[in-house]
Amino acid sequence: MDTRVDEIAPNIYRFSTFRPQAGIVFNQFLIDADEPLLFHTGQKWLFPHLHDAMKRVMDPARLRWITFGHYEADESGAMNDWLGVAPDAVIAHGTIGVRTSIADQADREPRALKDGEVFELGGKRVRYIYTPHVPHGWDAGLIYEETTKTLFTSDLFTRVGDDGPFTESDIVGPALAMEDHGHATALTPATAPTIRKLADLPIDTLALMHAPTFRGDGKKALHDLANEYAQRLIG
Ligand SMILES: [Fe+2]
Ligand SMILES: [Fe+2]
Repeated sequence: MDTRVDEIAPNIYRFSTFRPQAGIVFNQFLIDADEPLLFHTGQKWLFPHLHDAMKRVMDPARLRWITFGHYEADESGAMNDWLGVAPDAVIAHGTIGVRTSIADQADREPRALKDGEVFELGGKRVRYIYTPHVPHGWDAGLIYEETTKTLFTSDLFTRVGDDGPFTESDIVGPALAMEDHGHATALTPATAPTIRKLADLPIDTLALMHAPTFRGDGKKALHDLANEYAQRLIG
């Protein structure tokens, strides 16, 4: 299993593993700072590979925060494995997610985050944004790193295949093809407005979980995706 490591913004690292059985890549992101933060834990099967990959960047025992978009195996499955190797690490997730699942499932007491809450990592600042049911799950939320203007979109813009670490080309078309095939997004009246609200952020980089990191016009991509979802909701 080959896990690729790329620095997508200063001291922000993307770990990417292509899983042929699934046909997609699984990406996790490390924000290296005084208090390093991992966004997405990977599944349990991925943990040993991801742990080895992280050692190429830093000692995994330094991890201080473990976060994810929503409670699902690729986002949060290995959370307790990470707690096991990082003695000072704390799982931080939205309040709803902590109440519904994480407080029960995590081996250590988690921190519950409010919508818009900012936490200082020492050199990096992460804002938690609650996005219920976007892309799916009542507990769904995203993070935004303010100093690098990086939005971590979780499953938004998921595509088939491994197209490398970076792209400036269209990310909406491949995502819609995947959506029409897999129906992974919870389409509700709130889907498009929630995505449009994300586009209000200053964005230099979109860090996508199952696609290359996007360095093009992130605001336009978010608006285009929102418009397409709004269209699909009408039918
Ligand atoms: Fe998901
Ligand atoms: Fe995912």
